[in-house]
Amino acid sequence: MSDPDYKLLQSQLRALLADESDPLANASNFVALLNTAMDDVNWLGIYVLRGDELVLGPFQGLPACVRIPVGNGVCGTAAKKLQTLRVEDVHEFPGHIACDAASRSELVVPLIIDDRLVGVLDIDSPSVGRFSAEDQTGIEGLCAAYCASLSGSDRFI
Ligand code: SME
Repeated sequence: MSDPDYKLLQSQLRALLADESDPLANASNFVALLNTAMDDVNWLGIYVLRGDELVLGPFQGLPACVRIPVGNGVCGTAAKKLQTLRVEDVHEFPGHIACDAASRSELVVPLIIDDRLVGVLDIDSPSVGRFSAEDQTGIEGLCAAYCASLSGSDRFI
């Protein structure tokens, strides 16, 4: 398994977002770009903060749980703590929500625009320990670029 070239992905993402201002289109393309770049991933998508719940947004993978209360599961915990969670083995994570039974490790990055939590990016792998510290840094950088592209916008999705 080879690591994605995160520098190249950054420039591809910026090019993809540069000429379009529709947030739903850009969220969908962000997710699709990441999914094509990452090996050994079975689900990748965005959950959108609506009130005190995360609601399913653009994604690639099997149909998934639609609503996750903030504070629940890996996604809801990352949202509550405003922190990236990189889970080596989801079976060891108390309260993990198994949308796809194949998932064994997970990376969840809060999406923060203009200091406001708007959702999370969730990536699942069927392999234990799939996500390295380098993946975390690379994906956080891509999420930061994606969020920066939405600064000042009144819609996220
Ligand atoms: N496993 C996540 C739920 C979302 S699915 O993986 C798509 C969680 O525990 O929050």
